[in-house]
Amino acid sequence: MMARIYQPTTTTIRRLATVLKRGGLVAVPSETVYGLAAHALDAAACQKIFEVKGRPPTDPLIVHVHSLAAAAVVAELTPAARALGRAFWPGPLTLVLKKKPVVPEVVTSGLDSVAVRIPQHRVFRDLLRTSGLPLAAPSANPFGYVSPTTAGHVQDSLGERIEHILDGGACAVGVESTIVDLRNPAKPTVLRPGKITAEEIAAVLGVPVTVRRARAHPGKVGAKKGRTAAQRAPGMMERHYSPNTRLRWVKSIAGDEVLSSGRRVAFLFLARPADPRLAALGGRVQWLSAAGDPEEAARSLFSRLRALDQGGYREIRVQRLPDDPAFAVVADRLNRAAARGR
Ligand code: TXA
Ligand code: MG
Repeated sequence: MMARIYQPTTTTIRRLATVLKRGGLVAVPSETVYGLAAHALDAAACQKIFEVKGRPPTDPLIVHVHSLAAAAVVAELTPAARALGRAFWPGPLTLVLKKKPVVPEVVTSGLDSVAVRIPQHRVFRDLLRTSGLPLAAPSANPFGYVSPTTAGHVQDSLGERIEHILDGGACAVGVESTIVDLRNPAKPTVLRPGKITAEEIAAVLGVPVTVRRARAHPGKVGAKKGRTAAQRAPGMMERHYSPNTRLRWVKSIAGDEVLSSGRRVAFLFLARPADPRLAALGGRVQWLSAAGDPEEAARSLFSRLRALDQGGYREIRVQRLPDDPAFAVVADRLNRAAARGR
């Protein structure tokens, strides 16, 4: 049986809140990507998330809450956490904090920290308020695959394994939240880049922020060094967000290269290629944003990767991105999508 997609109304939100209270799973929209939610204080419900996603138990979940008061139930809110919360919540920021004992071990993979976020999407907020629950939710994709940014994406890859998908439209940000580890107040660290930048975080905290930054254009993807770092930090696996089709960075894509390539090679440009012959090739030539805008590129990235992955191509060649911090998040996700091995 395929999952049912619900349009958000007072009635469907009430109904899905009941599903969650009873230990069921609901795929939910957020401003970043769709999440697969369960009652965060119900260990058995959260265990199901890992089973449905095929996610290793060593990769902890983010707990979503409606308010700072609700955040304080699951985590120790330090002054730095409150300051960042006031500045960026509700929004695409996740804080790693010391966990409170009520949070089951399955959620945090046995760590003494918990990742917490107050999301901004109106539909997600309605569900959090109506249920009155903290909701553990990873991105609603099979482990390691491209994150979903529409209800249809969730249906495509998890529709046979879950029953309920709440439709909140296409995600406005399109890439996952920025994750900041705040456990050491003297040394806040960005674990995963997102829309909210290290500079913005540092400006609020008044201390320098360390970033574990993926290089925009690694000479070799899949280098050993990344994998070792990945093993030290939960969830920082080098390969992630990956289509099944092989992705390869190329410095520049010449029109002639595209025209002479076989039909089983696809191309992903940042902007719409100027050469009209390329745009006319249809599905195997795609771009992230007609005008090359970084926010629009982030918003469309996962949709484009999914579309290309369904085309049956042998390889997707990705155009190198400009060396500009505005593209750091898109470059991070593409680097991981292109990394080989798990
Ligand atoms: O935007 C988002 O953050 C989306 C939406 C649904 O909120 N969620 C999301 O969840 O991206 P997920 O599970 O795909 O990624 C969560 C990341 C994982 O890399 C996980 O390892 C890390 O957060 N994480 C969770 N708890 C952690 C902790 N206590 N310490 C360090 N990293 C943690
Ligand atoms: Mg994910």
